[in-house]
Amino acid sequence: MKRLLKLKSGENIIIKHLTKLDVDGVWYNFNEVIEEGSYLPVFFPVRSQLEKDSWYRNIKKGNEICIVGENLDLKAPYNIIGQCEVLNSDWDAAEHVGVLGIVIRDKYRDLTIGRNLIDFAIRESKILNNKEKIILSSFSTNKRALHLFKKLGFEVIGVRKKQFLMDSIYIDEVMMELWIDDYLNENKQNFTIDL
Ligand SMILES: CC(C)(COP(=O)(O)OP(=O)(O)OC[C@H]1O[C@@H](n2cnc3c(N)ncnc32)[C@H](O)[C@@H]1OP(=O)(O)O)[C@@H](O)C(=O)NCCC(=O)NCCS
Repeated sequence: MKRLLKLKSGENIIIKHLTKLDVDGVWYNFNEVIEEGSYLPVFFPVRSQLEKDSWYRNIKKGNEICIVGENLDLKAPYNIIGQCEVLNSDWDAAEHVGVLGIVIRDKYRDLTIGRNLIDFAIRESKILNNKEKIILSSFSTNKRALHLFKKLGFEVIGVRKKQFLMDSIYIDEVMMELWIDDYLNENKQNFTIDL
């Protein structure tokens, strides 16, 4: 299944599951965010094709969800303008829990793409993987991400103080969770077009 999101700029964004062709775009976005140095607790970009391909194989092997936004007017890897993953928990006894991560390319932020990728990822996690709960964490300094997650219904369930040390500054980690059925009850409709 795919969705279409029409931006106010007139651009059309296809929201769909990751394919092999999208891998370079996903890593381009991830590396761009790493270089920004403000949002993820990772210091070094991933350049090795082996690592990128192995990540893709693991996603597919584990039937994990990775939803991407694609601008068909752009050439690869720039066509993939953001991604939202819901990965499996590391624990056998937490199969019902999905772990969410999201990155939107700088130029495409604040255009509702994040909200719509998360919406699709949540719904697909229940349908395809029987997930019941989504968990995530964010830097306490990431005001935009926290605003969006709260708006979608995620609740703060704890804060790990000074969990990260970035450029000699300690940052708290805010941990959040969302029950999918609660989300679906609150959000009967999505704002995209089913394709
Ligand atoms: C966080 C992120 C995923 C959100 O995606 P997005 O497409 O920009 O999000 P949306 O456009 O759907 O929503 C953004 C919301 O944040 C609001 N916002 C923007 N800047 C803000 C700020 N400084 N403080 C509070 N809210 C802010 C916007 O107004 C919008 O809310 P609204 O719909 O109520 O007006 C994206 O910006 C991103 O990739 N950031 C860098 C990487 C990152 O932080 N990843 C998450 C790590 S936990």
